[in-house]
Amino acid sequence: MEFSFPHYLLSKQSVDDRALNKTVIDALKVNLPPAPIRIIEVGAGIGTMMTRLLRWELVAKTSYILVDEMAQNIDSARRWIPLWAVNAGMSVERIEQNELRVFDETHDFCIQFECADVFDFIKKNPAPADLLIAHAFLDLLPMPESMPKLLALTKHLAWLTINFDGVTSLEPAIDAGLDERIERLYHATMDARPTGGDSRAGRHLFSHLRKAGAEVLAAGASDWVVHAVNGKYPADEKYFLNFILHFFEESLTGHSELNAADFANWIKERRAQIERGELVYIAHQMDFLASRGDPPSEAKRSDKF
Ligand SMILES: C[S@@+](CC[C@H](N)C(=O)[O-])C[C@H]1O[C@@H](n2cnc3c(N)ncnc32)[C@H](O)[C@@H]1O
Repeated sequence: MEFSFPHYLLSKQSVDDRALNKTVIDALKVNLPPAPIRIIEVGAGIGTMMTRLLRWELVAKTSYILVDEMAQNIDSARRWIPLWAVNAGMSVERIEQNELRVFDETHDFCIQFECADVFDFIKKNPAPADLLIAHAFLDLLPMPESMPKLLALTKHLAWLTINFDGVTSLEPAIDAGLDERIERLYHATMDARPTGGDSRAGRHLFSHLRKAGAEVLAAGASDWVVHAVNGKYPADEKYFLNFILHFFEESLTGHSELNAADFANWIKERRAQIERGELVYIAHQMDFLASRGDPPSEAKRSDKF
């Protein structure tokens, strides 16, 4: 099997669609200022959250800056978003190499691609947006020091989603002791990354946000729950599950606390469970809607109706 990160991000869409916390989304709808709004998304991958805003009618008109440090992701975003838009019956205008307009009668998204490390991007002092989005990203960053820098990117709202929070479950069990050790060591690798990261990022965001002067407007679980239906995984979720095992392999192969043959057999048996449609994968995560200061005056309008 070929492991492509952009393909993984595509396969993750249906899992994220189910997982995203709907109470937090309701709070986002109530608090969003009227269109057009400015959005900055950091760690945006290939742009699937941007297309979700369109699919779910969350935003009608926006200028959207999509930031990711991986050139492969930004290149995929440049190719994939226009294909997605045309398939969805929308018009596409290429403005420049790094700018794209996706629109129809009721939507207008001006998208700017920034291939950059998020902290280099912040150093350029971009004008703060109405909404900052960080989706499946904050658990990779050094905290708490990153939070005030990130919040400088928004003058009002931050929608911070799919933050891993300390629980991975793979069923059915293979060997309870080995399963537990592999999950524990896997979480420990998240805490030991030189670039930062926290295997309990979700619960810790409450205090990181508060200390950075933001108010949590809504919070809730956004667990990934992946299982077969009538023996088949929906959409491209078989690929997604194989990629999750690839993360385990990348993180733990050669680990001094694991017998190499036992771990190789464990991966092999987990892949066989996927082939048989048996593997059930659950990852506990959390979503937040936070606010920095008072909303712009028009945003309060929606509270009155
Ligand atoms: C788990 S992926 C999530 C991508 C996307 N939000 C999604 O869910 O489809 C994390 C993303 O953060 C990007 N990333 C990691 N560290 C970064 C940094 N310091 N600056 C910008 N992007 C970064 C990676 O390239 C990757 O695309």
